[in-house]
Amino acid sequence: MTVIEVIQRSAEFLSKKGVESPRLQIELLLAHVLKMPRLNLYLDFNRTLTEPELGTLRPMVKRRGNREPLQHIIGSTSFCGLEIHVTSAVLIPRPETELLAERAYTFLTSSAAPADKPVSFFELGTGSGCLAIALAFKCQAARGHSVDISKSALAVARENAERHQVSDRIQFLQGDGFDALARDLRFDLIVSNPPYIPTAEIATLAPEVRDHDPHVALDGGSDGLKFYHRLAEDAGSFLRPNGKLMMEFGDGQAEEIQSILTANRWAIEKVEADYSGRPRILIAHRQES
Ligand SMILES: C[S@@+](CC[C@H](N)C(=O)[O-])C[C@H]1O[C@@H](n2cnc3c(N)ncnc32)[C@H](O)[C@@H]1O
Repeated sequence: MTVIEVIQRSAEFLSKKGVESPRLQIELLLAHVLKMPRLNLYLDFNRTLTEPELGTLRPMVKRRGNREPLQHIIGSTSFCGLEIHVTSAVLIPRPETELLAERAYTFLTSSAAPADKPVSFFELGTGSGCLAIALAFKCQAARGHSVDISKSALAVARENAERHQVSDRIQFLQGDGFDALARDLRFDLIVSNPPYIPTAEIATLAPEVRDHDPHVALDGGSDGLKFYHRLAEDAGSFLRPNGKLMMEFGDGQAEEIQSILTANRWAIEKVEADYSGRPRILIAHRQES
């Protein structure tokens, strides 16, 4: 079978299975198997695939047809230009979180200027470690503490930090919210992409998310806002003067989260939209008392 035949047949199969963007999905899988950039497939449409290549590809296409996420099948994803290893123990990093990372490392870099003064961050809910790793990678003056309640997620995060050579600047801690932190620690930035899906909505999500992302990474309690209450109540005492709180939130939660923050002595600096125009990121600082 040639490259183009495989693409056409598999795209049809994935489409019948309800997979979104089926042609893109098979092209990404095939490019992974052939170890080439996806666009190079277009230069080689008539190449005949070998039996071993087809033997590797077939089970992958079957898994994708069973609605397993592409990132689990190929074992990694890209986040802020860094390759991040993912397993079923961690949330697959999402493109909208890259915007949060970008705002966060821009703030850390400007706080460290002009003499590369050390700056620090705390991250609640690290998952694969993508956010903390991007911050430490892009801002060499930054040191961080990252917490997760999931031991298996922390193992993936530590491995990713080592892969990108930032493990000496990030302390990964297991804990519930801020509980694992020494009370006298202070940070320039507190950042979080917490679980924010209302519990009852999880059952309605696409199978790739519902059946493969860990529920502990999705479940934000009955109204989805549980972690914003905790961040609003607990983050203030760990923040340095001039420090900032930056968070991602779900579609439609902006108003409620702003109310939670202002009721807890936070001043909202900015609410920013993701690439599809939906408000998804909030930046706040402590109100003067
Ligand atoms: C939405 S995921 C974000 C993961 C990663 N930061 C990202 O942006 O891709 C939320 C993370 O919070 C963690 N988590 C859930 N409950 C927690 C708690 N009570 N304390 C600390 N972490 C928690 C989950 O295990 C999960 O890794």
